[in-house]
Amino acid sequence: MSERVYLLPLWIRLWHWTNALLIITLTITGVSLHFADPKLPLVEFSLAARIHDLAGLALVAAYGFFVIANIVSGNWWQYVPKPPGILDRCMKQARWYLWGIFKGEPHPYPVTLEVNFNAMQALIYWFIMYLMMPTLLITGLIFMFPQFAPDRVFDMDGLLPVAVLHYLTGTVIVLFMIAHMYLGTTGHTVTTMFKTMITGWHEH
Ligand code: HEM
Repeated sequence: MSERVYLLPLWIRLWHWTNALLIITLTITGVSLHFADPKLPLVEFSLAARIHDLAGLALVAAYGFFVIANIVSGNWWQYVPKPPGILDRCMKQARWYLWGIFKGEPHPYPVTLEVNFNAMQALIYWFIMYLMMPTLLITGLIFMFPQFAPDRVFDMDGLLPVAVLHYLTGTVIVLFMIAHMYLGTTGHTVTTMFKTMITGWHEH
């Protein structure tokens, strides 16, 4: 018998799917720009640049909304891993993803209204949303307005560290998204968590 609880308010769901669409758009155009090949373009260069700029600005706006709405609603607290025993709970969770799930063991930390994320999820979401995303967005903005970049950093062109950071954080976020989609299938059934992100209702 499954139980239902209204877990995710509309604003989280709207932000989440806007964010996902923008990140997918930025990934396709970003790959086209980074591995540009005039003979075999994924998206033609100048079109990819225009779309990447617009989607990037939209992502800055969506991220601003995410941060403010998280503060106002108190949802930011979900992202803070709570001691004691964070490492222990992360290990138990990882063991379940790698082993327990395939043996039909129950979720070690079932979702509740008060504690939506397990410790591993909280740590990873925090790292992505509050470390990787701001770095990605700030370096993207500096690229767009290069007059704000330092002229030289450690005897290198000032834009070089900006480019490297932008590429690295973008790559980490794309790798996160792939793992995140897989882990999204580990709910009550394969589709349960995706449905929750659409309807707001969690089933367990
Ligand atoms: C098509 C791509 C994506 C799919 C299918 C997807 C799927 C999901 C699902 C099913 C959940 C609910 C389960 C949970 O709370 O963990 C979720 C939550 C979440 N996702 Fe995604 N996601 C995608 C892309 C992204 C991206 C690109 C990011 C960030 C860069 C992201 C960040 C988050 C965050 C922070 C939450 C928790 C929201 C909250 O409850 O406060 N997702 N996602």
